[in-house]
Amino acid sequence: MDKNFYITTPIYYPSAKPHMGHAYSSIIADFFARFKRIDGFNVNFLTGTDEHGLKIQRAAEKKGIGTLKFCDEISETFRELSKILNLTNTDFIRTTEERHKLSVQHLWNELEKNDDIYLSKYSGWYSVSDEAFYTEEEIEEIDGIKKSISSKSTVEWVDEESYFFRLSKWEKPLLKYYKENPDFISPISRKNEVISFVESGLKDLSVSRKSFSWGIKVPNNNDHVIYVWLDALTNYISALNYPNTTDNLFKSFWPASIHLIGKDILRFHAVYWPAFLLASKLPLPKKIYGHGWILSGDEKMSKSKGNILDPLEIINLYGLDPLRYYLIKEVSFGNDGNISKERLENCINSDLANNFGNLCQRVIAFTFKNCDGKVPDKIDFQKEDLKILNNFKSNLDKIRKKIDNQDINFYINFIVDTLFESNKYFNDQEPWKKKIEIERLNTIVYTSLEIIRKISIMLYPIIPQSSLKALKIFGLKENDIKFSTLENHNYLVEGRSINKIDILFQKIEKKDD
Ligand code: MSP
Repeated sequence: MDKNFYITTPIYYPSAKPHMGHAYSSIIADFFARFKRIDGFNVNFLTGTDEHGLKIQRAAEKKGIGTLKFCDEISETFRELSKILNLTNTDFIRTTEERHKLSVQHLWNELEKNDDIYLSKYSGWYSVSDEAFYTEEEIEEIDGIKKSISSKSTVEWVDEESYFFRLSKWEKPLLKYYKENPDFISPISRKNEVISFVESGLKDLSVSRKSFSWGIKVPNNNDHVIYVWLDALTNYISALNYPNTTDNLFKSFWPASIHLIGKDILRFHAVYWPAFLLASKLPLPKKIYGHGWILSGDEKMSKSKGNILDPLEIINLYGLDPLRYYLIKEVSFGNDGNISKERLENCINSDLANNFGNLCQRVIAFTFKNCDGKVPDKIDFQKEDLKILNNFKSNLDKIRKKIDNQDINFYINFIVDTLFESNKYFNDQEPWKKKIEIERLNTIVYTSLEIIRKISIMLYPIIPQSSLKALKIFGLKENDIKFSTLENHNYLVEGRSINKIDILFQKIEKKDD
């Protein structure tokens, strides 16, 4: 079985500071990376910044700073955010790095060699904000200003010499590929969108610009810079040392297991990128997943709309793990979702503090009071104990499959339901009434401790810091976290001391409490 897993986030435009939408993409990617890692996979996890193009050049001009210096500063805030979000990315790529430039120019040469690039002239609409070309049918006029219908960004007229990529040539091969690889584009609703776009006919794509210089030069024609999307998409392989396809990184991790992106950039990933790869005879990524947006009010957050939610503000107020938990649980994965402080506070109070935190504290306190602070011995599992323990064991493969289908909603619901069942189990078994049936009391405590261990492991990809804190009860460290151990009902060593831990989550005082 292929035990290598390669996941990517989009590379972010460093045109402004990161916002909640960016944090969301990254946290979700980290969730998958961590899960795969504890399930024994060798994980490569890439994120970074997309620094070329007119959008960035203009943003730098507006600030009156040199473009690279401008990128250096903002790219650094994205790198810092990765740390603050506790991401386990294995690399952070900047498209202004030399390794990337070499890779992009090589890819360009390959495309040219295979006669997929020709010189002509582009006359049409361009959105700097989206870095995208739009046809007449894709734009509308609002208050005398031409805008993209889909993104509402302003478009401007471009009339200049340009290199073109023969995208039209790849229309049929792409449709064939989508058909033969039904999981390539997910979720399914977005796949249909892409297929109808391709079926409606692909025009050749302008892949260079002549009227500005902030980009990677077209080899052999320094008057042109390479279109920023052809440049940016290549990051996924330049970070694996492409063009050195015999390099260990490339051999181990290409094709990528999944490119995680927002739904607004699906066309670039599900049409242009696979076409570039087909044309350069490289394998295609296994999956493109287009997630929904984090809305502010009813709108997508964006700098131009001035409705940005700052992840740092929320983290300072509530902590990182509650934010991670909230984004993973409350934004139904694949759909759009809203951020509301009220719902975030409810998550903290009810799921994290009451259901998880309390379970840990109750069981620890009971173990200290009645079992000398040790994992009890003389265990004899009964039907009711095995029922709850087997629920993990019998669902292990199902959980793995759900993760491979990006069904985060299943994963989190499994945890929420199990937490509910676990609290109910402890209440129903009433170990405090079993002080003279010592074997029964021991078995209930053992089972409860096992459940806490298992749930903490499942929570690790979502709330890693808190999960590690909880696992301190058993003296377990990050390296000990293995998903496969959820199968084992007898993992905890009888007679070994457990540890008291601090409160995991402070409840938020609500005004009407
Ligand atoms: N630079 C390109 C991506 C190149 S990938 C080869 C880009 N950058 S971006 O900074 O504008 O957006 C990066 C990602 O953030 C996209 O996936 C986008 O969908 C996501 N988000 C931006 N705003 C968002 C929300 N409000 N909510 C969720 N994600 C959103 O596009």
